Amino acid sequence: MFRRVSAAAVGAVLVGTLAACGSGGSSDASDDDDSITMGFAQVGAESGWRTANTQSIKDTAEAEGVTLKFSDAQQKQENQIKAIRSYIQQKVDVIAFSPVVETGWDTVLQEAKRAKIPVILTDRSVDSDDTSLYETFLGSDFVLEGEKAGDWLVENADEADTDKDGKINVVQLEGTTGAAPAIDRAEGFKEKIGADPRIEVVASQTGDFTRDGGKKVMESFLKSQPDIDVVYAHNDDMGLGAIEAIEAAGKKPGTDIKIITVDAVKDGMTALAEGKINFIVECNPLLGPQLMDLAEKVVAGEEVPERVVTEEATFDQEQAKAALPDRQY
Ligand code: AHR
Repeated sequence: MFRRVSAAAVGAVLVGTLAACGSGGSSDASDDDDSITMGFAQVGAESGWRTANTQSIKDTAEAEGVTLKFSDAQQKQENQIKAIRSYIQQKVDVIAFSPVVETGWDTVLQEAKRAKIPVILTDRSVDSDDTSLYETFLGSDFVLEGEKAGDWLVENADEADTDKDGKINVVQLEGTTGAAPAIDRAEGFKEKIGADPRIEVVASQTGDFTRDGGKKVMESFLKSQPDIDVVYAHNDDMGLGAIEAIEAAGKKPGTDIKIITVDAVKDGMTALAEGKINFIVECNPLLGPQLMDLAEKVVAGEEVPERVVTEEATFDQEQAKAALPDRQY
């Protein structure tokens, strides 16, 4: 169980708590008992990945005795900012959040800093010049994920040229506009497909990381693009939505149109094992244990690495069949 450390040895934390108490108000969340109180501002519930991530955070908090104040921002930055401000008011011991978009966080993070409440970024990062606004960033390397997707396509280009016309036309289903994984997965993919002049992204549009979004965008791509060889979806959910649209158009996903996605949640892995997806780059949502560990250290005033990168695999169809029975999420 994690215990909030109140000894003088953790001066910075103690000063923070006292300063916050001195600013008025009687409901100091961190005074109720000696456990850590974490305010967590989640992005939303847009995908299977997010559901697994939320579960991992809630389960680990409970197991470790961390008092968790949790909010769901429904993919809206203003909701996340409101939640963070409310955690500052409640004087939690630590704030953790997964920023829905990369920019526009400096003001609220400065408020947290002034209140001496440490902030941990998890899953997604912020684009700010001032790295003193947060203690650490725990999450995937999204550029690397995009690169893995691009590498696979370059290696399998002959097979991906489904109509054998010497051109590999890719349509891209982007994640939420302005979100780190959308920006970075597009960048890493673009970088790698440059190795083969036959491969071209002919259309690219956001599906907001949702199944419904992926389906709608794919329906419109199927109407506007006469020759689609490959779908590159920034997450499984959008890829699964694209599968529905492709089947409704009378085509065979995974065969007539190759599909590459990111995440490797159970539904995605099932579609991969069934041959409807061709390749998945894993993005691990089970960040709860590492997050709580970092929170304990940060609250105790211990040094933590600026960046903690999660390790991830990739799956082809045979690997998905083998991995599915033990898949946790
Ligand atoms: O930030 C991680 C991404 O957000 C996941 O790949 C996606 O499924 C989620 O919505």
